[in-house]
Amino acid sequence: MENKRSSFGSNFGFLMAAIGSAVGLGNIWGFPYKMGKCGGFVFLIVYLLLAVFVGMIIMCSELAVGRKTKLSPIDAYNQVSKKFAWIGWLATIAPFFIMSFYTVLGGYCLQYIALNMTKLSFGNEAVAMSGGEVFGAMLTTPLGCVVFTTLFIVICMIIVQGGVSGGIERFNKVGMPALAVMLLIIIVRSLTLPNAVEGLKFMFVPGYAVKGGFIESSPNLVSVLGTAGGQMFFSLSLAMGAILTYGSYLSKEENLVKNSVIIVFSDTLIALMAGIAVIPAAVANGIAQGTPVGQIKLGGPNLLFVTLQDVFTNMGKIGPLFGVIFYVLVLIAAISSAISLMETIAAHWIDKDLAKGETDTRKRNVLIVSLLILIEAVVVAADGLGSNFSPASLLGISAPPVFLDCFLDFMDCWSEGIAMPLGAMLMALMIGWERSPELVLDEVAHGDPSEGFKNFYRVCVKFVVPIVMAFVLAGQMIDFFGGSPAIWYVVSAICLAAFWAFAASGKKQAG
Ligand code: PHE
Repeated sequence: MENKRSSFGSNFGFLMAAIGSAVGLGNIWGFPYKMGKCGGFVFLIVYLLLAVFVGMIIMCSELAVGRKTKLSPIDAYNQVSKKFAWIGWLATIAPFFIMSFYTVLGGYCLQYIALNMTKLSFGNEAVAMSGGEVFGAMLTTPLGCVVFTTLFIVICMIIVQGGVSGGIERFNKVGMPALAVMLLIIIVRSLTLPNAVEGLKFMFVPGYAVKGGFIESSPNLVSVLGTAGGQMFFSLSLAMGAILTYGSYLSKEENLVKNSVIIVFSDTLIALMAGIAVIPAAVANGIAQGTPVGQIKLGGPNLLFVTLQDVFTNMGKIGPLFGVIFYVLVLIAAISSAISLMETIAAHWIDKDLAKGETDTRKRNVLIVSLLILIEAVVVAADGLGSNFSPASLLGISAPPVFLDCFLDFMDCWSEGIAMPLGAMLMALMIGWERSPELVLDEVAHGDPSEGFKNFYRVCVKFVVPIVMAFVLAGQMIDFFGGSPAIWYVVSAICLAAFWAFAASGKKQAG
């Protein structure tokens, strides 16, 4: 069976694919706006600390478990853990839920490319609407959203059907370098706008977000930790099976520690670059339009589809060209992530068929997975971020908590809000306490890591990651469900204590 299983053609190809999975809407959309919401610089520091102490550790662990077992998540966890075998299901269902809205956002990108191409060909007046009006009109046209979502799913399906090296690796080897070049072009344009420096100060000068009036007061540290932690996991594609699955296609020769460092570093760099492309442009444009600095909206999800579209329109004749470049780059980022999610789900059935001796079932399995994704995505596409209907409106609830606001938030809550922090916490407890850190370190040892790294890994996986994840989980629940934060701290602490005791109980399985 092993010989017939897909694999990456080269370590470079693997890196491009893994970076492609990591770099996505999370970096280009989520990072800048969450940074805006959480006070700029503070968020950045917390994010960087989390990336090193938690992100790196889970990245390494997932790659190691994937490569050791050479299986997709459900079977991989089945093999390495008796107590936590079910994490594999979390890591397969969560990508399925994420795809319900990721594909819809991909569809929006396609619509914005079409919009800017129209403006480029026929002049800005061809669509004489503000960013807000365009966005509103798009959301309240469910049919259009469903059509473009379907188109996005078909594009991903064709790539994944092409296979691991023939489809996924090939797309990323071209797509990722292209994305970096396009991002640089946008950064140069953004930074040369008058007053762009105000946006840079917001990002990099401690305390400026509050002093400049962008936000009223510094957010509390736990809420920053929750937001930054959720963002970091989502952005690095962690605890969602995707990195584990890609790891399972990687050759034994490759150095997992080095690869993890490269992936985490690149993803963070692209997120920062996206921030530098987006925030100064939004601030400069706001100032040019006469909005007082502190009132320029950086905090909302509207940043990508409303604020930035206005930035491009206000650049005059040449603006739509930058618009096309920008939304194409966002589209590439979205596709490269979506195909990793699709692969994670499909890999389970492809592996099952292989075990039965059936080869060449990739096309059929990917088609079935795509159809299932289409069904859930249609609901998210049609609700128009809650403009047309929402879980709350269907249930007749007024003033709902965030997770009932629209189907996107609903799906995001179960995947990014719960499955991801819980999955990461459980994975660390499984490795650190049920099995042993050597499970990962032995696999990583092909690259012969230093004693320093080994000790760092042992401490982080046993203590730092589980505890930090409990805070992230609490932060996410406070955001999604509202109510008294104290309740969620208690819930999350009970979860941590119970699973910790469960993992450490009984006889330790040999590494
Ligand atoms: N990392 C992707 C992003 O930043 C999203 C993603 C999450 C992809 C989980 C795969 C797995 O947008």
